[in-house]
Amino acid sequence: MSASPRPVALVTGASSGIGESFAHALARRRHDLVLVARRGAVLEDLAARLRTEQGIAVEVCATDLATPDGTALVAERCADPDRPLDLLVNNAGVGTMGRYWELPAAGELGQVALNVVALVHLTHAALGPMVQRGRGGVINVSSTSAYQPIPRHATYGATKAFVSSFTNAVHEELRGTGVRMMVLAPGYTRTNFQADGFDPQHLPEFVWQQPDEVVATALTAYDRGRAVCVTGILNVAAVAATKVLPAAASRKVAGFVTRRAY
Ligand SMILES: NC(=O)c1ccc[n+]([C@@H]2O[C@H](COP(=O)([O-])OP(=O)(O)OC[C@H]3O[C@@H](n4cnc5c(N)ncnc54)[C@H](OP(=O)(O)O)[C@@H]3O)[C@@H](O)[C@H]2O)c1
Repeated sequence: MSASPRPVALVTGASSGIGESFAHALARRRHDLVLVARRGAVLEDLAARLRTEQGIAVEVCATDLATPDGTALVAERCADPDRPLDLLVNNAGVGTMGRYWELPAAGELGQVALNVVALVHLTHAALGPMVQRGRGGVINVSSTSAYQPIPRHATYGATKAFVSSFTNAVHEELRGTGVRMMVLAPGYTRTNFQADGFDPQHLPEFVWQQPDEVVATALTAYDRGRAVCVTGILNVAAVAATKVLPAAASRKVAGFVTRRAY
């Protein structure tokens, strides 16, 4: 892949949903790809399709990013000076739902390992070589859940608040380096994300976006060098509301929505 004249993008969580949409969109933009997720067979199918349909090179890395070994393996690929990345999309993420103390501790810790620890590790590994080359970028997938505490989704919301704060800060640090960093905050998106106990029937159709729509908005914002991309007018309005409402009010509104939906 190093001999290819095309830019190279690594996408985590590429086996479904928003990550799979990123893979398709970046392939159409003539990027070679490194696809990461746990389900190797799904990634191999996607890779074969993209190679045939788009004529790009695709590497597959089937690994669990919630484990130190899995993250180290992908970090090594991100930092490889002989096969430098032009774009890292930290998209893999999970969210548990329910009252915090009733959820298994392992799921809460795994969520922090994937949504936070792996993202920080991979970003660190990728940025060194990017800054050295004076080009490249990182898109970190957060959520509108980052903007207020989310009862019944407490750990998830907190991990996404971390992702947003972290990415905004490093975006500023990167000024003048030629390297970009953007946080992507989608709202409700039709993917496999919704876990057990979530009933989408409770939410009206107009709140939902399709992953391709989210990714198209994200890549336009990334091209413009934005620090933050909230997708969809409804989500932009909801995020704006959290900035003017008292913290207790937005927390209570979030609790009302999740009480009805989960
Ligand atoms: N859907 C929404 O409503 C929504 C809203 C806001 C933000 N987001 C964010 O969007 C991102 C993508 O989620 P999605 O909605 O596209 O959900 P999804 O369809 O469930 O995709 C999640 C992806 O992450 C991968 N993944 C999960 N655990 C992993 C692990 N331990 N190691 C490696 N890969 C792992 C999954 O692949 P494998 O199972 O093959 O590992 C899958 O490819 C997440 O960060 C999520 O928080 C989603």
